[in-house]
Amino acid sequence: MSRPLPTVFDQAFAAAVRAPSPHNTQPWRFVAEGDVIEVWLDRERVLSVADPHRREARLACGAAAFNLVISLRSHDLAVVVRTLPEQAEPDLVAVIRLDGNQKATQAERRLAEAVFRRHTNRRPFLDKEVPPGVRAALKSAALAEGGQVEYLDASGRYTTVASLVRQAEVMQEDDLAFQTETAFWTRRPPESPDGVPKTAVGPPPDHHGVVTLRASHEDADLPPREYEQQPLLAAVLTRDRGPYAEVRAGMAMQRVLLTATAEGLAASFLSQPFETPRTRETLDRLFTGVGQPHTLLRIGYGYPTRLTARRAVADVLTHRARPDVPAG
Ligand SMILES: Cc1cc2nc3c(=O)[nH]c(=O)nc-3n(C[C@H](O)[C@H](O)[C@H](O)COP(=O)(O)O)c2cc1C
Repeated sequence: MSRPLPTVFDQAFAAAVRAPSPHNTQPWRFVAEGDVIEVWLDRERVLSVADPHRREARLACGAAAFNLVISLRSHDLAVVVRTLPEQAEPDLVAVIRLDGNQKATQAERRLAEAVFRRHTNRRPFLDKEVPPGVRAALKSAALAEGGQVEYLDASGRYTTVASLVRQAEVMQEDDLAFQTETAFWTRRPPESPDGVPKTAVGPPPDHHGVVTLRASHEDADLPPREYEQQPLLAAVLTRDRGPYAEVRAGMAMQRVLLTATAEGLAASFLSQPFETPRTRETLDRLFTGVGQPHTLLRIGYGYPTRLTARRAVADVLTHRARPDVPAG
């Protein structure tokens, strides 16, 4: 088949780098060869203290792969995706191959448009319930990518999970290595191409509610504000565990986040309990029989905040000449 116009690929890579990643580390790189795109995990950008097993990095790379796929699909291109295709190359997260033409659905176009609006919102949300129809749409989004969304309010797990978030937060505050790593990646100037800028964090809460966001993501210079009483918490799960499941979970998470954006919802993450072994074990046990939890999302209605910057596509993309096609 003929190669798509360069602008289509340019847009797909611009979409890929808009994916969320822990502390905006952007732990990915891409290789383009003919009509194939490889998504690689970049070990140099993994949080070695918070994410020693590269679990969160694989979620982020899965999200970047989903952005690539949805962007290509929105241009009526069919794609075949293979996740972790080679055992010998554990950092090759996904291979996306163009496979002819297929008209995009309206839903796919809507998700592709949401890529450039989606952002993490750490500010207070409105005390407004997410209607059942929208909750169902987020569940369907996860299922479409082989994942699962479980709302914690319905399951009776809410207070236990909120307590695990607080426990993990306390342990991390006492951990010098953790604090040093977090300090390196946060409170960056707004123009920083990676890391979390001060403009992306929230005001301190005026009193501690049920759910605690990361203290490192508070701007102490802002006046304290009241946060929503009890935000909607959603866990993204897969049936299986391990690296393959983590990449699929990243794709499912991103489809959920883009669906949320398209529905006018805001979202932020609560990853603390995944990052300390004891709380992580308890979290895993809590979902026994349901699935493997990968990430926790706080979802609600909020006012849009500023997008954070990304490294340039040229810094993360390599073009590889096809062996059968002479370069140049
Ligand atoms: C796996 C994963 C875990 C994350 N955990 C947290 C978290 O615990 N707290 C938080 O405020 N943001 C968290 N984030 C959000 C990132 O900090 C955010 O995606 C990044 O700074 C880029 O900003 P953006 O999402 O607004 O584009 C997480 C993102 C990913 C993909």
